[in-house]
Amino acid sequence: MKKKITILPGDGIGKEVTACGKKVLEQIAECFGHEFVFDYAVIGHDAIESTGDPLPEETLTKLKNTDAILFGAVGHPKYDNDPTLKVRPEQGLLKMRKELGLYANLRPIKLFDELLEASSIKPEILRGADILFFRELTGDVYFGERGRKNNNETAYDTMIYSKFEVERIAHKAFKAAQTRKNKVTSVDKANVLESSRLWRAVVQEVAKEYPDVTVEHMFVDAAAMKLIQNPRSFDVVLTGNLFGDILTDEASQIAGSMGMLASASVGDKVGLYEPIHGSAHDITGKGIANPLASILSAALLLDISFGLKEESETVIKAVEKTLQEGYRTKDIADSSTALEKILGTEVMGNVISNQVRIITSIDVNR
Ligand code: IPM
Ligand code: MN
Repeated sequence: MKKKITILPGDGIGKEVTACGKKVLEQIAECFGHEFVFDYAVIGHDAIESTGDPLPEETLTKLKNTDAILFGAVGHPKYDNDPTLKVRPEQGLLKMRKELGLYANLRPIKLFDELLEASSIKPEILRGADILFFRELTGDVYFGERGRKNNNETAYDTMIYSKFEVERIAHKAFKAAQTRKNKVTSVDKANVLESSRLWRAVVQEVAKEYPDVTVEHMFVDAAAMKLIQNPRSFDVVLTGNLFGDILTDEASQIAGSMGMLASASVGDKVGLYEPIHGSAHDITGKGIANPLASILSAALLLDISFGLKEESETVIKAVEKTLQEGYRTKDIADSSTALEKILGTEVMGNVISNQVRIITSIDVNR
């Protein structure tokens, strides 16, 4: 198979982790006889510095003409500490999601058994948890009308959803549930918000088309509590943009670390794959970032955009094997991890990539 993959390293640790994701994709191409052609584009602070625009036209054109996108992260502390700045790295990410029609963000939360001790949650609560979030990505308060009034002393953002936006992601969530445990938990705040009442009504309608799927509706505050109290009670979680943003950071603790969580953004055409973590400037350049989220994002890319199931599973197996052998990055190490097993970003990428080669050579010999 011949495919073009565009890498958007972005800011901070984005560059370090996407380099590992790419390395693993190259290894897969070599082992399975595919041809992946890579190109690069700029986004975020990086793009503002070089072009003044967080999503330059040139980047957008490349993204519209590629088969899949591997994205790192955007953000820079300079902007976080100065709310008056008008041009911000995150605008690049939001515009890209909108322009490419990436309305469904899939965030699988699954704990590798080896990391049971890495989480701050008790192992007996976590064991067996396996949740797939469908976070809506191109609507909500992220894209609603916003502004200032009253002499700049009042600010507002609008939470807004239209029926078609809820319908299209709801269908995706229900279809996914049919391939899992046949349960969808739709999360909203329908006891207070009008947009949530529309959300709930539309989900109830869509649910009728999937009689084999159990649907439950939960308020976001209760869902935040339940996620930590009993994560195993969830299968597919369907929610809006803002609630999904917050709940998936919370849920990352179920997977041991933010450094473990991959995501896929899909919609009209091209798919985009990215860790759920941010640019992490506090550790940028130190070579200690966990590349597993980017590598697992590459696994999602192979499966969802290219339909390469075996290749995707090989990457996941390679991650599993590496963890079984005791290798950790700093964020997922615990007191029992031997010092020589704590790896930096690049070495961890190399170990996984080698593991891919070992797994495929064993399979071939069978
Ligand atoms: C995420 C991030 C982004 C979001 C930021 C960087 C705009 O937190 O992908 O979860 O809020 O969607
Ligand atoms: Mn987030």
